[in-house]
Amino acid sequence: MDFQGQHIVSIEQFDLQAVEAVLQLAAQMTPYVNRQKGSRVLDGASLASLFFEPSTRTRVSFASAFHLLGGKVMETTGMGTSSLTKGESLFDTAQVISGYADAIAMRHPQAFSVSEFAKGATVPVLNGGDGANEHPTQALLDTFTIFDELQRLGKAQSPIRIALVGDLKNGRTVHSLSRVLSIFPKIEFTFVAPNALTMPEKIVAQCDDAHHRINFTQDLIQGIQNQDIVYMTRVQEERFETQEEADLYRGKYRLTQSIYDKYCAPNTIIMHPLPRDSRLEANELSDDLNKNPNLAIFRQSQNGVKVRMALFALVLGVDKQLAQHEVAINWRSRQ
Ligand code: NCD
Repeated sequence: MDFQGQHIVSIEQFDLQAVEAVLQLAAQMTPYVNRQKGSRVLDGASLASLFFEPSTRTRVSFASAFHLLGGKVMETTGMGTSSLTKGESLFDTAQVISGYADAIAMRHPQAFSVSEFAKGATVPVLNGGDGANEHPTQALLDTFTIFDELQRLGKAQSPIRIALVGDLKNGRTVHSLSRVLSIFPKIEFTFVAPNALTMPEKIVAQCDDAHHRINFTQDLIQGIQNQDIVYMTRVQEERFETQEEADLYRGKYRLTQSIYDKYCAPNTIIMHPLPRDSRLEANELSDDLNKNPNLAIFRQSQNGVKVRMALFALVLGVDKQLAQHEVAINWRSRQ
């Protein structure tokens, strides 16, 4: 895949070689993320960050990634402050913003809206989540994390066993993650969800067509046993018709340290795209796991910066020029 000038709207665009290229480049971003050296490779470039739905880590990590490569970021957040509420089409907004920026990161509440927007854009558009559909950059950072964590534990076994737990119907991260993992050899998926929130048929079919083993259960305890990774998710309450309906499922699956100790295989890696819903009635990933060394959630969110740096470098065609544009981090020496 030739990345330069491409939009990143769906994980469907990636084959194994393309995913590996992103992961390898992301690993090279570690010294920049750790502030051991700086980069000016995107000096003079601007990112438009358009987030029409709540976001903390995706929005800030896109911005952090662009800044760390030496670029500048312009932000607009929320639908209320945008001309989309005046009836402007996604196409027109895309044309306009393309005149101001060299790349666009976008999140929008409607499925497929970001690919619609990309049709009007003349600069690369990166999908930061389109409704319940996809979250391709999260899937790439999740994949990076899975391999990084398995390596940390010295595990090189095959198949990789992963339980995806929670609202698999509305969770875009689990959709994109299942899709990207399905292009790797030998994955064993366990989908743990209430019947009403099970993984969409299209995604199950994709994993099945790639000849992976797939298990289904509604039972958390059964689902989390004998796994390498347990990937917890939040009930996507904003996608339900009513709060009452969402409340039927919040709190149904809760992973705590005592459940982990009793049922999970030693060194099971715990992931979550975050935010975890820490309110008492939900609490799908208990705070009492915070000292568990296999709780990878904050390493996972940190990896988002590396992966997004790699994607910017690739789509803007500067991935081979990083070494030439390294700079010292001077503010540190002034401390
Ligand atoms: C997720 C999202 O927005 O899809 N968060 C994220 O981007 N890391 C998951 C969620 O909101 O539950």
